[in-house]
Amino acid sequence: MNSIFMCFYILLILNFYIATIDARPNKLIIHLSSSPATAPAPLMADSGVPSKSPYHKTHSSKKLVIALIAGCSVGVILVPLMCLMICRREKIFRSSKLRSYKLDQLRGLPLSSFITRTNSTFKQNSQKQSVTVMDYSLLKAATNDFHESEILGSGGFGCVYKGRLDDNLTVAVKKLDTQSRDALKEFQTEIDILSKVQHPNIITLLGYCVDNETKLLVYELMQNGSLDTQLHGPSCGSNLTWYCRMKIALDTARGLEYLHEHCKPPVIHRDLKSSNILLDSSYNAKLADFGLAVMDGANKNVKLSGTLGYVAPEYLLDGKLTDKSDVYAFGVVLLELLLRRRPVEKQKQTPPECQSLVTWAMPQLTDRAKLPSIIDPVIRDTMDPKHLFQVAAVAVLCLQPEPSYRPLITDVLHSLVPLVPVELGGTLRVAENRVAAALEP
Ligand SMILES: Nc1ncnc2c1ncn2[C@@H]1O[C@H](COP(=O)(O)OP(=O)(O)O)[C@@H](O)[C@H]1O
Ligand SMILES: [Mg+2]
Repeated sequence: MNSIFMCFYILLILNFYIATIDARPNKLIIHLSSSPATAPAPLMADSGVPSKSPYHKTHSSKKLVIALIAGCSVGVILVPLMCLMICRREKIFRSSKLRSYKLDQLRGLPLSSFITRTNSTFKQNSQKQSVTVMDYSLLKAATNDFHESEILGSGGFGCVYKGRLDDNLTVAVKKLDTQSRDALKEFQTEIDILSKVQHPNIITLLGYCVDNETKLLVYELMQNGSLDTQLHGPSCGSNLTWYCRMKIALDTARGLEYLHEHCKPPVIHRDLKSSNILLDSSYNAKLADFGLAVMDGANKNVKLSGTLGYVAPEYLLDGKLTDKSDVYAFGVVLLELLLRRRPVEKQKQTPPECQSLVTWAMPQLTDRAKLPSIIDPVIRDTMDPKHLFQVAAVAVLCLQPEPSYRPLITDVLHSLVPLVPVELGGTLRVAENRVAAALEP
């Protein structure tokens, strides 16, 4: 824009200058033609060059004026046009510089500064240090060249591998197997959110790597894998006692409460499910997989995503997304912990039909006579029945079809705290030997 103003300014001065030159011969012409008798001697009479007649002078001056006017007119049109062209070129150059800068970021330069700039509104109470950019060859070697034997689990866009960075540090490495736009978006969202949050019940992102097409995320290793594997895998929930399950529920609620209540702006996880709840060596639970998470207050017109069986009805039907969508999914996880059944089960009939756990369990959860009979046999009769009824009541509230009838996760958290032994982070006082016995798988 500056250059346009400069050009107009120069043009203005030029016009003014031309106008003054123009004025002089005109005056002379008028003077010469109006009183030829008193005409002064020709200005160039003594120069030796034959002086021109007044008519000749008038004619050539007219020519000069026409030429000058024509020149100026062309200038008036051409100069701004040129300025516009220069400006456009500058703009294109600037945007291409920005684009190549973003690409550079994705080629392995620190992404943290880029992320901070794009999401400067996201602030944390306990601001976390930026995530480390890791070397591809280091991670390749750590995972034994992404060997099958190192696979810890798999998800929508690839596998998660166990990696040994050195003798003391074992990590989990998630490798994106696809270049789809959704996968790249999830990759960026996961770095974006996990690089800023820090909580004992949220997985720690240690670093990431972008090497051409390959994109890797490096997390702390959770030795006991996912809740999904623990409940529905080969151990069939046998490692998880009643108190242990209550602690997992409490940890999950704490992680969610942190996202909903303590992050500014709040974060909605959007894909809470048992395979995204990970367990460390002491069965402390942490929320993982933030690829679909959204910051509350940000544009909520996001593509409908999530996992069937966990998605709240209002989100599924109307795309209405709130923190209560996570509360609904939490209710489904509570059912999984109590009943050890999958959220959607295929019926053994022809043609096979899918059965929703929520639809099947709801009427039995409020029936005190029936409830014990549907509980996971591994933990059946190992808990105080009053506690069981309380947890079932919490689950029923979380699963209300109308989101406003569901409690906030803070309320859920407070109703779970008295059901978890002090030793496990709750407020329940149980004789120490009883807790120890109850924790034995
Ligand atoms: N940090 C980790 N430690 C141990 N296992 C993990 C870890 N992260 C992921 N996994 C395993 O990999 C699975 C998929 O991981 P997830 O982050 O959910 O990826 P996706 O986005 O593909 O669903 C998990 O369900 C779990 O079994
Ligand atoms: Mg997952």
